[in-house]
Amino acid sequence: MRGGRLRGIVLAEIGPTGSLRYKAVNSCLLFLPMIHGKQLITIENLAYQKDGELILHPVQQALADHYGSQCGYCTPGMIMSMFALFKNVVDPTEEEIRTALAGNLCRCTGYRSIYQAALQACSQEGEDLFNEKEDAVLQQLYHIRQWNRAMNLKGKGQQYLLPFTLEEALSFRKAYPEAIVINGATDIAIRQNKQYEYFPFLLDLSQVDDLKIFYEDHGHWFIGAGLALEELTAISNDRIPSLYDILKVFASRQIRNAATAGGNVATASPIGDTLPWLMAMEANVHLHSESGSRVVPIEQFITGYRSTGLKEDELITLLSVPKPESGVITGCYKVSNRRDVDISNVSGVFRLTTAEGTIKKIRIVLGGMAAYPRRALKTESFLEGREWSRSTAEAAMKVLREEYQPITDARSSALARSLAAGNLLLKFWSENQHP
Ligand code: FES
Repeated sequence: MRGGRLRGIVLAEIGPTGSLRYKAVNSCLLFLPMIHGKQLITIENLAYQKDGELILHPVQQALADHYGSQCGYCTPGMIMSMFALFKNVVDPTEEEIRTALAGNLCRCTGYRSIYQAALQACSQEGEDLFNEKEDAVLQQLYHIRQWNRAMNLKGKGQQYLLPFTLEEALSFRKAYPEAIVINGATDIAIRQNKQYEYFPFLLDLSQVDDLKIFYEDHGHWFIGAGLALEELTAISNDRIPSLYDILKVFASRQIRNAATAGGNVATASPIGDTLPWLMAMEANVHLHSESGSRVVPIEQFITGYRSTGLKEDELITLLSVPKPESGVITGCYKVSNRRDVDISNVSGVFRLTTAEGTIKKIRIVLGGMAAYPRRALKTESFLEGREWSRSTAEAAMKVLREEYQPITDARSSALARSLAAGNLLLKFWSENQHP
């Protein structure tokens, strides 16, 4: 996924504090109506002419100063990722810079000079030409927002339904049950732009603010279906460390800025990275239609390979996750061919409760090992009641490996998957020998 081809852009939108929030995204994964109500900023907008002289943006100047571009193919994506970082964070840490750049691959320059350029540019206050125009842009965006009404856009062979409220979304869902529902579209957009599948009806929930929520009470975390995974990453960094372990290696920031919590559940992908965590945590899926609502345990909601129990007039609105009781240990692991911007070969989430060295309850959910993420029921019942020891873990590895029949594909062989799954169990034991 090279920066030039995926074409990194930045969208500025009204943030929760009323000022502009800048997000790096991949333009090839956006349907045009998704930029409604946002400021579109491309690489062409950064430099400007003054008295006949070309004035580079500070991030462009820094990249030039550090010789961070050779063939230039990745440069637009790198610059736009650096620009979003420049606007959002003053004096970022090394980790923040790496996270911001991770969605871009450079084949010739090497990353050190690009990293140094980001470090130089972002160590200063994010002052630039965009600051001067920010009030005017905000005014325009607020003006557009006033006129937000459900849109039914008809193009060549494609009808695009764009609601702004949950009520409008449910009404569209009932009227157009054949519409593909998108909320981030990082899956569906690939099918259209790379596999040339054309969807006659799309129902896009990305403008429904009612779904972009997060709250908690003493017993649960509540995650809105429309919450972007990047926002959930930031929230979980403070409050849900086990989820953060997964999200920090989920695709790249550009993808997480578009992809949503509900979208990842609805795809029911065998390698959907949040699904094993949600299943191990015994989460519930909240579903709404014009005629009512229901709550379904996620384990029942996922019914097979990319299939769910969603009815034709329903939408996923919320995920509720019971908070673990004190003393519960959770381990989340992802095995992929490289650490960043990759999909799982195998993923595993383990949740353990012990009492005096004995396993009281354990939940094991593996992704990448079957047609959909599935609990290791036999291994769980083998473990429960036994001593939490290395010999128990090693015996359980055998049960676990026999419980799944993974496939061989381009990413991994069945044997490698099977070995990795067992090893994850041993790793979990090894990291938590004395719970
Ligand atoms: Fe050539 Fe990065 S790919 S400069």
